[in-house]
Amino acid sequence: MANPHPIPSWKFSSGAVAMKGNIYLVGFMGAGKSTVGRLLAERLGMGFLDTDELIAERAGLSIPEIFSRLGEGRFREWEREVVGEVCCRRGLVVALGGGAPMDDRNWRLLRGTGVTVYLRETPETLAARLAGDGSRPLLAGYAGEERARRIGELLGSREHRYLEAHIVIECRGRPPEEIVGEIVERLRDVDC
Ligand code: S3P
Repeated sequence: MANPHPIPSWKFSSGAVAMKGNIYLVGFMGAGKSTVGRLLAERLGMGFLDTDELIAERAGLSIPEIFSRLGEGRFREWEREVVGEVCCRRGLVVALGGGAPMDDRNWRLLRGTGVTVYLRETPETLAARLAGDGSRPLLAGYAGEERARRIGELLGSREHRYLEAHIVIECRGRPPEEIVGEIVERLRDVDC
């Protein structure tokens, strides 16, 4: 079946971003970047990459193992490497780890090589989704109310950066398909 949204038909004022650049999904852990990213890539006929998956492959370790055995510093080095690499490629939808945009060099690269999309979700929804999650090292050791507080604090310290994205999507717990639809609509208006 023909792709209903062929990339060259997007109405960017420059006419160039969608064809030459990537789409980067940013936001907090649990916001749905990987799920939405896969669907979006499928819908637009683009490739999909998840930076955490690339890092885990490279390390031969899971993300929690990298943090516990080698430390967050090593994880961030790998993350910078992987961001540098994906930014050299084109035609991709990329789901970024929640901390990747906090690095200034990463952020410059991301903003300069594609359209950044912030999947904004409320701290309450994020806390509910991440309540029993054992795969996020930054939340390990926090349970119940403490975990919810930790999520609120981390989000508070990061949101100024996420809000610099070209497109901010208010997710409000909506299903991924609906969010994908909104992203596709909003991409038509991007002027960057
Ligand atoms: C992190 C988010 C995780 C992963 C790592 C650190 C963060 O990715 O990169 O655990 O700093 O917010 P997700 O946002 O995909 O959970």
